[in-house]
Amino acid sequence: MRENVTIVEHPLVKHKISMLRDKNTGTNEFRKLVEEVTMLMGYEALRDLPLEDVEVETPIETCMTPMLAGRKLALVPILRAGLGMVGGMLALTPTAKVGHIGMYRDEDTHTPQDYYCKLPHPIDDRVIVVMDPMLATGGSAEDAITQIKKQGGTHIKFMSIIAAPEGLDRVSEAHPDVQIYVGQLDRCLNADAYICPGLGDAGDRIFGTV
Ligand code: PRP
Ligand code: URA
Repeated sequence: MRENVTIVEHPLVKHKISMLRDKNTGTNEFRKLVEEVTMLMGYEALRDLPLEDVEVETPIETCMTPMLAGRKLALVPILRAGLGMVGGMLALTPTAKVGHIGMYRDEDTHTPQDYYCKLPHPIDDRVIVVMDPMLATGGSAEDAITQIKKQGGTHIKFMSIIAAPEGLDRVSEAHPDVQIYVGQLDRCLNADAYICPGLGDAGDRIFGTV
């Protein structure tokens, strides 16, 4: 279990997640922190991108030097809160295409309700990075990844800033072929399926809604 999971152990990630948790962190700062944490996690999540040597002429001489090769990227935020992570990843990979999957959790059943899915086409030749800051029950992430696989996605990664053990195990088991990157593993879910200690409702904090 959790063989496909990486908890990103970096002091900058831990520090910024603690700032995200603080209920006194306002919308503007919260958005910036989500982007920064995403960028730091993206550095780890994209560690295995293939390189190829290309010829470059420096002011001194011509050399063979590594550049990104092969498979192209697709970033897929889960709406709404995943949108907050797009800027951080695009700062690293500005030519990536961006798809969107829309879903919200039913307040009573805590199950995901799908309302939108638009992915780059074709999707099968891309490395796909699915993003959502919160992995709680895992229902949304599991469903989003299943939708992407149905449309032909094969090389999928999932990034989440905070995860609950229940949700992490669920997605890890449902999709053992998907590499999962998490900034912090929290204690548990509460009766409303919110992550404890968590940071509250990520979508509301990013978009200033209540
Ligand atoms: C939140 C979060 C995830 C989901 C996680 O979204 O951004 O998508 O809940 O919960 P789960 O792991 O139990 O499925 P929410 O449903 O609140 O929608 P929003 O982003 O539009 O606010
Ligand atoms: N969604 C959130 O935004 N926060 C949680 O703690 C759980 C689900």
